[in-house]
Amino acid sequence: MEKEDTDLIGETGLQRKSDVIVIGAGAAGMMAAIRAGKRGRSVVVLDHARAPGEKIRISGGGRCNFTNIHAGPKNFLSANPHFCKSALARFTPADFIAMVERHGIAWHEKTLGQLFCDDSAKDIIRMLLDEMCAAGAALDLDTEITGVERTDAGFRISTGQGAYEASSLIVATGGKSIPKMGATGFAYRLAEQFGLAVLETRPALVPLTLDPGLLASIAPLAGISAPAEIRHGKTAFREALLFTHRGLSGPAILQISSYWREGDEIVLAIEPDIDIAAQLKAAKQLNGRQSAQTALGEILPKRLAQFLVEREKISGNMADLPDKTLLSLAASVQNFAIKPSGSEGYRTAEVTLGGIDTAALDSRSMEAKAVPGLYFIGECVDVTGWLGGYNFQWAWASGFAAGECA
Ligand code: FDA
Repeated sequence: MEKEDTDLIGETGLQRKSDVIVIGAGAAGMMAAIRAGKRGRSVVVLDHARAPGEKIRISGGGRCNFTNIHAGPKNFLSANPHFCKSALARFTPADFIAMVERHGIAWHEKTLGQLFCDDSAKDIIRMLLDEMCAAGAALDLDTEITGVERTDAGFRISTGQGAYEASSLIVATGGKSIPKMGATGFAYRLAEQFGLAVLETRPALVPLTLDPGLLASIAPLAGISAPAEIRHGKTAFREALLFTHRGLSGPAILQISSYWREGDEIVLAIEPDIDIAAQLKAAKQLNGRQSAQTALGEILPKRLAQFLVEREKISGNMADLPDKTLLSLAASVQNFAIKPSGSEGYRTAEVTLGGIDTAALDSRSMEAKAVPGLYFIGECVDVTGWLGGYNFQWAWASGFAAGECA
């Protein structure tokens, strides 16, 4: 197909006409632009930020956990768990790794299939910009969108710099997390403008907070990290748990936060791979004169051991403690029920749960069923990944799917 990309500013207030406009130069938007451009479509990407891919830059502690080799539909939450299957199957972690390797970016697997850049997340942004350039996609930053209208030929986007027109419009403006970084509810408002349903949104992959009384009681634990299994109903994650000045954090808590709802209890099983009861019994045999706190302090961080022993109101030498008491101490370590009061919200949430109802979208192309030419991709769609590179894999895969069709 011939590229049609005309600059007409000054004549009709029209800044540019292209085949495809992508709003949002984040992970999903850049991938969609690359794919559409490679198919010969003329593409313009618009973003209100001064720099593209800001979330990529800060992701993974500055090293970008850009995918997960185990990524599959089971790692995503959505009202329709089948929706993500098609896109994920057509652009896989191996496809993204191949792109990373073509650009000579060194990477490593950290843990649980999570792939990170050896050097910097900026390498991923540079790669995407190079790919966009090779695909002929233009990027207009610092561009405030003031309106979107449907026209006979497609869509007209009004901006502070004039209007843009295209036959296809891909919306990739992300979710509401980290408003300080320019996150807006733009995609949701636009979806509603075009009559698409938007499911309730909530912060996810977010630290959980505790009510003041509980927080005061666990205040001495702030800063302690331990391996844990965190359970919510039938869902469980085994990763690190971190006690903080605000409540609970660490990867295991962020994971469970996507499942937790206000009023629910979660259960912390600290050091789930250790048979605490057996170790306490052995310690009693070996050195009956030591305290329970000292014995437990051999297994857990000392402040945590002290907290749990005091919470169970246990005192005296190990030799004087019946096995029943040791069993209940072990249970308190590995069956520690706690009721969070809330979460830290969008201020620190890595992603937004919920969003544009997948029932309104075609799962192969991400196109709105009722509005031909309009596509929604990435985090704004009701598909939310676990922590560990899954959310970027969804951004790449949904971006590729839309870029293939727009
Ligand atoms: P994304 O938010 O990346 O991009 C949206 C773009 O749209 C932005 O450039 C924004 O400026 C623009 N925009 C928004 N509103 C607009 C408007 N009104 N007009 C014009 N432009 C607008 N995931 C993962 O897999 N591995 C990881 O290591 C991490 N790490 C991580 C750390 C932190 C601190 C956060 C906050 C998040 C992560 N994530 C992550 C999640 C990941 O960053 C997220 O899932 C993707 O960036 C989503 O990609 P999108 O392209 O959908 O939105």
